[in-house]
Amino acid sequence: MAARSFTILASLLAVASASPCKLPTYTLPETGTGTELPAVAAGLSLLRIAVGHGIQNYTCASTTAATTATGALAVLYDITHLYPGTLSTGLSSDAFNAISGQLLWGQDIPLNLQSASAASPGSPAAPNDLSETEYGAVVADPFPSPSPLSLPGVLAAEAPFLGHHYFDATGVPTFDLSGSGLFGSMNKTGDVKAPSTAQTGILATGAVDWLQLTASSNGLSVGIKQVYRVITAGGASETCAVLNAAGGSVPYTAFYWFFG
Ligand SMILES: *[C@@H]1O[C@H](CO)[C@@H](O)[C@H](O)[C@H]1NC(C)=O
Ligand SMILES: *[C@@H]1O[C@H](CO)[C@@H](O)[C@H](O)[C@H]1NC(C)=O
Repeated sequence: MAARSFTILASLLAVASASPCKLPTYTLPETGTGTELPAVAAGLSLLRIAVGHGIQNYTCASTTAATTATGALAVLYDITHLYPGTLSTGLSSDAFNAISGQLLWGQDIPLNLQSASAASPGSPAAPNDLSETEYGAVVADPFPSPSPLSLPGVLAAEAPFLGHHYFDATGVPTFDLSGSGLFGSMNKTGDVKAPSTAQTGILATGAVDWLQLTASSNGLSVGIKQVYRVITAGGASETCAVLNAAGGSVPYTAFYWFFG
């Protein structure tokens, strides 16, 4: 009996002493295009990696103007535990980075849209008959009740809901990671084109840029110092000529890496 207790205790100690070595080294993805985002500020640590799914919003001043990006709405899910090298839950690098594109096509847009039928990807059949003018959200109440991400065939288990991404009333990109107490009110400090291999999205308009965002001097952020948007899929706009100056919203997914 005593011998067995000793064996159990010994193996518990082995796990405990191994645990500080269990975290993988988190390395931000690179575009590989020769133009990369600025490095993470010195002294910051990774807080979370999320995948976001939602819409990017655009307006047009005229048919000849360039589109103006006016905001975004997205639901964020925690996928930190799936990062390659994470003990027992980590995916391969390829499988991890593929989540973004698979989510775009594998889940309905998790927002209250003005036209609920627009939420379902590829319905009507891809390439989609819907246009950018049909993906607008219900601005007063864009987010349904939080629920975890279920992506059968891609994720072995549900990924937890992490929070919401939106632009606040003053147009500042905001991340409310409600479950964790982290909050980011951000300022764009870096912007590079997505690699040409990025998924062009439901409307085949292209992937939005990769970004570095740094906590705004407005002082609203709690815990979050920098956010990187990488591995984007979809989200880029048609031209204002194609949109006939109407503006609209484009479905997208992206990874958001939070540092603090
Ligand atoms: C945003 O970043 C720029 C460049 O670093 C800086 O000059 C500006 O003060 C920042 N604005 C806010 C609101 O933090
Ligand atoms: C975004 O654009 C759509 C389409 O133009 C519009 O209906 C909607 O109100 C805008 N805002 C949001 C948050 O979707």
